[in-house]
Amino acid sequence: MSKITVWSADGPKQAIQAKETEVGPLKADEVEVKVDFCGLCHSDYSMWTNEWGFTAYPFVGGHEAVGTVSAIGELVEHLKVGQKVGVGWVSRSNLNSPESLSGDHNLSAGNEMTIVGRYGGFADTVRCQSVWAIPLPDSLDIKSAGPLFCGGITVFNPMVQFDLKPTDKVAVIGIGGLGHLAIQFLNKWGCEVTAFTSSPDKSDEAKEFGAHHTVSSRDSEEWKSLRGKFDFVISTVAVDMDWKAMTATLAPKGRLHFVGVVPSELGLRVGDLMSQQRSISSSPVGAPQVIATMLEFCARHDIRPQIEVFPMSKINEAMTHLEDGKARYRIVLENS
Ligand SMILES: NC(=O)c1ccc[n+]([C@@H]2O[C@H](COP(=O)([O-])OP(=O)(O)OC[C@H]3O[C@@H](n4cnc5c(N)ncnc54)[C@H](OP(=O)(O)O)[C@@H]3O)[C@@H](O)[C@H]2O)c1
Ligand SMILES: [Zn+2]
Repeated sequence: MSKITVWSADGPKQAIQAKETEVGPLKADEVEVKVDFCGLCHSDYSMWTNEWGFTAYPFVGGHEAVGTVSAIGELVEHLKVGQKVGVGWVSRSNLNSPESLSGDHNLSAGNEMTIVGRYGGFADTVRCQSVWAIPLPDSLDIKSAGPLFCGGITVFNPMVQFDLKPTDKVAVIGIGGLGHLAIQFLNKWGCEVTAFTSSPDKSDEAKEFGAHHTVSSRDSEEWKSLRGKFDFVISTVAVDMDWKAMTATLAPKGRLHFVGVVPSELGLRVGDLMSQQRSISSSPVGAPQVIATMLEFCARHDIRPQIEVFPMSKINEAMTHLEDGKARYRIVLENS
């Protein structure tokens, strides 16, 4: 038994406070990571507020943790104590499931999630099955690397899964934690990038991230000039929009892909898709090897999350900052 400090809430939207808790022995296939920095994802906010109805309290969020391996289980051979790693949304998979055996660990049934029914990375240490602790390339800036482990991989993975081409015209809806990384990835991938935003003041920065065009996400009248344009649209927003009008911006064989958790049903008809062979899809995070590939891509192209750092002790203020839509563009909590 050892004691760790976690930042925990006893109920929906209740104050998040530091407390000491006992953790059992490290499992043979696990690693323990001393958390230096942990990103704050919108999903931490949704879990804290129990928006999705399955939060277990006391709740400890944090699934964009980076730090140093502080202990390894007896079966772990590929990681060493002292190595820099990151831990994202998934903390354990059945390695013998057909999905894991095909390299799609993120799709494996029964995956354990880092902040669901267990303690996440808003803590001084976090544990996971060793396959889900991904080594950081040496050249990556550790302070800003955390958000790649959920926000980053969630938007990078669809680019790989759907074989996006450098000649594709792509749109990103919402310039937040996920969206500002999607713009950077897609630009370096070679695509023509359009950013849909509800915040006119983000337009200049969106262009610095690599957007070639920006459009209002609030006014679907503005979208009429974009009809039939996009090969791929990725939605990172957690709000309802006029999805029928958005579907009309897809080129023949175009795809509208959801990674943001939209609250209502989409209100689309098959006829909106059929005549142009359009598709609708969605995906969760990404598999360990795709995360490693993304980290390499970031190191090569000097892609990094734009972060605002709060001390872990100011986690409640950080939640309010995110709730108010003020984060530019990802909050990272730093352990002192
Ligand atoms: N699929 C997955 O595996 C996965 C992984 C991580 C997160 N998520 C989900 O992805 C979503 C985004 O997460 P995030 O961390 O990127 O959140 P975030 O940083 O809060 O960004 C969301 C963005 O949505 C836009 N937005 C907010 N309110 C809006 C409104 N009323 N109308 C139009 N646009 C609005 C804003 O961009 P603009 O200011 O540019 O409009 C905002 O920056 C959440 O639903 C989260 O739970 C899913
Ligand atoms: Zn997340």
